[in-house]
Amino acid sequence: MINVDFSFVKKEQLVDFASYKDKVKEIDKMINERTGAGSDFLGWLKYPLTYDKEEFNRIKAKAKEFRENYDTLVVCGIGGSYLGANAAIDAINGLYPTTGMKIVYLGNTLDSTYTAQVINYLKNRNFAICCISKSGTTTETSVSFRILKSILEEKLGKERARKAIVCVTDKEKGALKTLATKEGYETYVLPDDVGGRYSVLTAVGLFPIACANIDIDDLMAGALEAMKKYDNANILENDAYKYALERFYLYSKCDYKVEMLCSYELKLRMFNEWWKQLFDESEGKDGKALLTASSVFTTDLHSLGQFIQEGSKILFETVIYIDKPALDVTIPYDEENLDGLNFIAGKNLSYVNSKAHEGTLHAHSESGNVPNIQINLNELTPFTLGELIYFFMKSCAMSAYLLGVNPFNQPGVEIYKKNMFHLLGKPGY
Ligand code: PA5
Repeated sequence: MINVDFSFVKKEQLVDFASYKDKVKEIDKMINERTGAGSDFLGWLKYPLTYDKEEFNRIKAKAKEFRENYDTLVVCGIGGSYLGANAAIDAINGLYPTTGMKIVYLGNTLDSTYTAQVINYLKNRNFAICCISKSGTTTETSVSFRILKSILEEKLGKERARKAIVCVTDKEKGALKTLATKEGYETYVLPDDVGGRYSVLTAVGLFPIACANIDIDDLMAGALEAMKKYDNANILENDAYKYALERFYLYSKCDYKVEMLCSYELKLRMFNEWWKQLFDESEGKDGKALLTASSVFTTDLHSLGQFIQEGSKILFETVIYIDKPALDVTIPYDEENLDGLNFIAGKNLSYVNSKAHEGTLHAHSESGNVPNIQINLNELTPFTLGELIYFFMKSCAMSAYLLGVNPFNQPGVEIYKKNMFHLLGKPGY
């Protein structure tokens, strides 16, 4: 269960939630009745209930087949077409997983060194490919898929390679759909009304997550729970809306420019990346919006920590804290105690981490004057992760509408592409 705590935000920086009651109600109605800007892309809103169960079962079966026959899955996608999967897989399995296929990411860059190293790494792996692109024409993804496909076909032959490739794309249009149909690849649908950064609970995230041997039934059950819980127009009873409103208030009334998402577990680093994309691509329009940043403590306390404590007062923190870690380690007793650590001998490392959290919270919010919003989870499981993902997506829609921008488009992203295509000599540019 998610608990949102505003007690480390000073009174003068805390919004009077009740005074926005009508505004929030109006936006909630707009979301539910799909009358706001970009409302064609609200398919994710009821998706935990309405998702295609037949496809879901096909995903589970194919992922099982992949887990039994290959040791590695290359997820080929960029932005919303890979970040959610990467975030969820790391968050549940950790950075040195002991279960599921090894998941490798390509198609998320034009970096030739990285690409060459992945190709080299794959030489000794028995790999399969999941290519994900809604448009089917994203350069990074298409180029990488072309390379991967040719390597796999050379290695296995066309017939066996066919069985080792799945695609997630539009149900009928786009170059990837055409290619997948012609080659006879197993295909899953990225629904028309779900944009990339809201797609982690569709096949886009579900297939790779299932290949990592994570329970996607539980993930969807958690999302469903959150869907019901945050389907409440009353700001006083809806934590997803409270979070959205408080961040809006800190930006628009208290002049904060940056929101930093912090956590105390390294496995959440990619979750930070997913969250940053969700909010920045949804809100950064018309010269507006908070810039998102992220850190993982205590690691980043030894770098960014100085700035947060004493630097310019441009940022507030939103901290995800998980009470019960997945694994723990006991600090041993040492007879000689040369490092002076016997005062914590016999304690778990998570206990020390929890005290670092407590100490940092007070240091940043009190003497540092950095507002801290706390998002607490008892533990991180596929179920609570499903809740958390849905929580942020619902918050983001509210937050963007409070700001007065369309949460579901990304016109600014097209401009670099046009320039690049022109420079590359792509026909029509
Ligand atoms: O959130 C988004 O819409 C984007 O980040 C897209 O997911 C990203 O650009 C990849 O697009 P596509 O899936 O069409 O290849």
